Amino acid sequence: MRVIKTAASMSAACRAVPRPLGLAPTMGSLHQGHLALTRRARRENATVAVSVFVNPTQFDRGADYGAYPRNFDLDLSKLDEEGVDLVFAPPEDEMFPPGFNTWVEVSGLSQGLEGERRPGHFKGVATVVAKLLNVAGPDRAYFGQKDGQQLAVVRALVRDLNLPVEIVSIPTVRESDGLAMSSRNALLSGPERRAAAVIHRSLVAAKGLWDAGERGGEPLRAESRRVLAGDPGVSRVDYVSVADPDTLCELDVVNDGAMVSTAVWIGETRLIDNLLLGPGP
Ligand code: PAF
Repeated sequence: MRVIKTAASMSAACRAVPRPLGLAPTMGSLHQGHLALTRRARRENATVAVSVFVNPTQFDRGADYGAYPRNFDLDLSKLDEEGVDLVFAPPEDEMFPPGFNTWVEVSGLSQGLEGERRPGHFKGVATVVAKLLNVAGPDRAYFGQKDGQQLAVVRALVRDLNLPVEIVSIPTVRESDGLAMSSRNALLSGPERRAAAVIHRSLVAAKGLWDAGERGGEPLRAESRRVLAGDPGVSRVDYVSVADPDTLCELDVVNDGAMVSTAVWIGETRLIDNLLLGPGP
């Protein structure tokens, strides 16, 4: 496994490797959710690259960026075990040097839900993803369904800028109590960690109602909110949404494939999760 720090060396390495090349962009602090991306990439590509870069431009609060968990040495040993070929781990000023002044913004999709609560977040995500795709030039890039809005933004970015890459989404990996794996889970205390399972329960409750035949968006949102409100471990609910997964428009009538999503504060930690409605888990 080669660890590469500069964009020029990464581009050169990616041009020289056997194709197809799969890229899994990450911010490190790797868990099973990330490893699901690299494993799928390993199955589908001759070469697998992973980027590890905590992108300062997608954090709206400095404190959040500072607190974001980092564990680079452990990340490298996990990636080595998974048979990853290339790791791109640039320092901050390699990606955003002084004078950096070009931003990518996917308007519309970036404004609601997460975008409304975290101004500038998706501008940072879209810009860094565009840069990573340009640097590595992969045939496929792998993203988790857990960040459902990010997935929609990245798909739009690739479509609108005609980037020659296939975006592959990977189902959310969960703990045994349903909590979606996230690097932020490491920030939870023991009681908070136990309380956080309510997030998945609230989504499952909405899905249960939908499975039972309810097709109204508002009753589904209300059901999720009811479950969240019943748990004293929840300090705040930023939103509960039932939306089209591509346009992110809220739905009055909810058909197959809709995305139920929520952002919830457990203590000082903000967690997001979603479920797609329809047959399947
Ligand atoms: O999902 C993430 O970890 C990040 O948003 C990404 C896609 C690596 C961009 O920094």
